[in-house]
Amino acid sequence: MKERVQKIFRGLSPTPDAVVFINSAEPHIDQSFYYVFDTMSGLFEGSVAVARPDGTTDVLSSKLEEESAREAARIDPSVRISVMNQPVDRKKWVVDQLGDAKTVAANFRETTHEDFRFLETVLPKVSWADASQAIRNARMVKDATEIERLARAGAIGSKAAEAIPGLIRPGMTEIELASEIEHRMNQEGATGRSFSTIVGFGANSAEPHYSPRNVRLEKGQSIVCDFGCLHQRYASDITRSFRFAPGDAEMKKVHETVEAAQSAALAIIKAGLPGKDAHMAAQRVVDASPWKGRFIHGLGHSVGLAVHDGYGMGPNTEEPLQAGMVVTVEPGIYLPGKGGVRIEDDIVVTETGYRFLTTARREYLEVGA
Ligand code: GLY
Ligand code: MN
Ligand code: MN
Repeated sequence: MKERVQKIFRGLSPTPDAVVFINSAEPHIDQSFYYVFDTMSGLFEGSVAVARPDGTTDVLSSKLEEESAREAARIDPSVRISVMNQPVDRKKWVVDQLGDAKTVAANFRETTHEDFRFLETVLPKVSWADASQAIRNARMVKDATEIERLARAGAIGSKAAEAIPGLIRPGMTEIELASEIEHRMNQEGATGRSFSTIVGFGANSAEPHYSPRNVRLEKGQSIVCDFGCLHQRYASDITRSFRFAPGDAEMKKVHETVEAAQSAALAIIKAGLPGKDAHMAAQRVVDASPWKGRFIHGLGHSVGLAVHDGYGMGPNTEEPLQAGMVVTVEPGIYLPGKGGVRIEDDIVVTETGYRFLTTARREYLEVGA
């Protein structure tokens, strides 16, 4: 996409002759490939994109997604498609494209070492530069198309979150609840999940990056569900926490404290605010409560083509928020051996504040009461 390619080049000095994106095999696909080549369908294993300072991009596709590639190029006239009949054609195509180039930048952060060695070998005269930071910065502020997709992904996640109380059954396993949440998102139009769904019951809910197991839900347990979907390649990321009846006075207060921590951060979030200020607004609320020190991770991260899209908000984040960034705001309190509460929403940052992309109800709720 012309504007996106030109945005990347504006972040590169001196200007290279080209920026190259090269995919290995799934899961080693460079998501930035889809930033410059906006295709809704196709895996593009082994594909290469060569972006140039005038905003045009040459893409080498395999035959396996030829129709998807050609359809995307019909919509975007800044893209030219070539199709390789077999993987060995890739070498000739790369040499045709870049054999005369003096300096080429690559996405060092997402290119496999093997693929970079291939490029170095077939292009021995090229001097290499790292485009990672320029690509990361370009991707950080979303354009209107990206925000529309992220909003849809957020809406799908929110619908699934609203459905959770009706999905919870005594004796069900964490894996069953996770799969029902994912099924809900697919029914709403998701094309996949944006990361491995987290569902934790009881003490398991106190581990932020827990993986669901075949353990059954029992009365009086906390429940944390952290999940998200992909919509047109863009991610959402939402967490909601519940209590399976009977309730617990301490966990209700924990929940209310996490809500207050999220509200405190949201109250000051706007373009120009250093990420650490948002984090500390939430952390101060937790640290003034009986659960001081139990907010054990950063406040949030950017979301885009990847669920963790390059920016993180923690106690040391000097980098300010910018209008058009999409970030999560996800404080939590974790009590080992007992349970946890996390509330996570996706927002788009504006000049004067923010707009929610996820909307499901956040309040303390006893399910099955
Ligand atoms: N899903 C992990 C996170 O919320 O960042
Ligand atoms: Mn999450
Ligand atoms: Mn998150």
